[in-house]
Amino acid sequence: MLKIKMHIVFFSVYFLFLLIIPIKVNGQKSELSSSFHKNQRLQLRKKLPNNTVAVLFSGPVRNRANDVDYEYHQDPNFYYLTGWDEPHAVLLIYSTLQKDEKGGYYEKLYVREKDSYNEMWNGKRLGLVGASKMGFDRIVVKDSFLTDNHDFSGFDTVFMFDFTNDVRDSRFDTSDLFDLKQHFKKAINFPEKFDVDRYRLYQRIQKAETFQVTNIKRAINYLAQTDTSLMEDPVIQDFISNSDEKSLLNDLKKRSAFLLRDYNFDVDQLKTFMAISREIKTPEEIILLKKAIRISTQGQIEVMKAIRPDMTEREVQGIHQLVYKKYGAAHEGYPSIVGAGDNACVLHYITNDKTDIENQLILMDLGAEYNGYTADVTRTIPVSGKFTSEQRALYEIVFDAQNAGISVAQNGASFEAISKACFKVVQEGLLELGIINKPEEFRRYLPHGVAHHIGLDVHDPGLYINLAPNMVITVEPGIYIPEGSPCDPKWWNIGIRIEDDILITDNTPINLSIDAPRAWNEIEELMKEKSALEDFVLPPLKID
Ligand code: GLY
Ligand code: MN
Ligand code: MN
Repeated sequence: MLKIKMHIVFFSVYFLFLLIIPIKVNGQKSELSSSFHKNQRLQLRKKLPNNTVAVLFSGPVRNRANDVDYEYHQDPNFYYLTGWDEPHAVLLIYSTLQKDEKGGYYEKLYVREKDSYNEMWNGKRLGLVGASKMGFDRIVVKDSFLTDNHDFSGFDTVFMFDFTNDVRDSRFDTSDLFDLKQHFKKAINFPEKFDVDRYRLYQRIQKAETFQVTNIKRAINYLAQTDTSLMEDPVIQDFISNSDEKSLLNDLKKRSAFLLRDYNFDVDQLKTFMAISREIKTPEEIILLKKAIRISTQGQIEVMKAIRPDMTEREVQGIHQLVYKKYGAAHEGYPSIVGAGDNACVLHYITNDKTDIENQLILMDLGAEYNGYTADVTRTIPVSGKFTSEQRALYEIVFDAQNAGISVAQNGASFEAISKACFKVVQEGLLELGIINKPEEFRRYLPHGVAHHIGLDVHDPGLYINLAPNMVITVEPGIYIPEGSPCDPKWWNIGIRIEDDILITDNTPINLSIDAPRAWNEIEELMKEKSALEDFVLPPLKID
């Protein structure tokens, strides 16, 4: 019988763990403190206008199928403000002191109570006692959210996020997230059929000036692609078909004002308030990010040493993930992309099921999530240990483009400047190799953006305008040439991305993922080294 070698498993392999040295980030504490979250609540409160309240709900429990749910993942904004990692919770932050019998409070967290039977099945809950150690002004059991008299009508504005449709009602819990949201909707007179996009459009119209009419018309046409009934609205029809912009706008404002009249809630500004805070990382967050990034680069390094032509995409993914778990990362911050050859040209490839990867370039875009913070690191390496001349020619363009992008990632520079720097190099490189004939054709082979914030989300929120110290962003140009592209077939099925995580400072940007080799020759050198996993051979799988 054929001997099957398996070089990796997803479960713990204890003797292997002993071979890997623990990573420490200068011995610093690796959890966010209650005071971090408290301070973020304060920062949000300072942004709220007088007599307003922000209401945030925890993330939903998502059902996988039948009686199995996905592992719970807290909504990142909720986590950022609370550190609370359990479902079915509500946070209220008030701009002004709310009076009660104990004095006054600015914030109130509703949480689920402890429940020994449920905890026997699903694990410990913190309950009111646990929450009371976390520094909130008021902690209340979630059932009370349904009976408390909130009187949201007294606030000038209730800031909140738009409701998404992924909340399931539980048969067993009468104050689950579904009920909490239903109750809140009633309390703020949320219209039954609320069309958030149309509402945003009417809001925009109310604030618009004449010079913005063209843009608004464009927005209407865009929205009409998914909302065909929009064009049946006589107000919109008149607006689109008439060319007297000034009188039109005034007319539209009058006729659409009533659509906004009764609401004192706002579904947009909270997003901006959170983005302003979250785009600048505190020292505590930077420690967690550094750790997530270093764990991820260890994964890349180990794979560079361990990869062999008889491995599969899945095994390669498994090596990264084994390393993550060894270093204490609970999971990945996003689905791992491990694609060889043609699969490297599929931007969001997550199937990772190709079994023959020999002699191909393999693109590995993975990020460890450590205490909620995720890295986002990509390396592209030749499975054989040596780049072919075509692979290397394209690799060097991407490498130069990334260097150009990183070098402009300076305090005060724009995100656009990073894109321009990367795009220019890719454009010139592809022209030089004859892969494109006109400069603008480069977007065919680099269709994505090349920089984003990372943090609690892999695509972390931010204003995405100018860079400032303590932002952590990716710089990630790529070139992807799928089979059938209009160029010499020798370039087909090569997909390359190099992605690093960059800390913006007052001076030179710092590449936090520099440990994992990026230059083609450094990669080839490292690939010659022995891996801790080299002798890890599993017996053939016996199936009777
Ligand atoms: N891994 C997703 C991204 O690079 O943006
Ligand atoms: Mn990225
Ligand atoms: Mn990535």
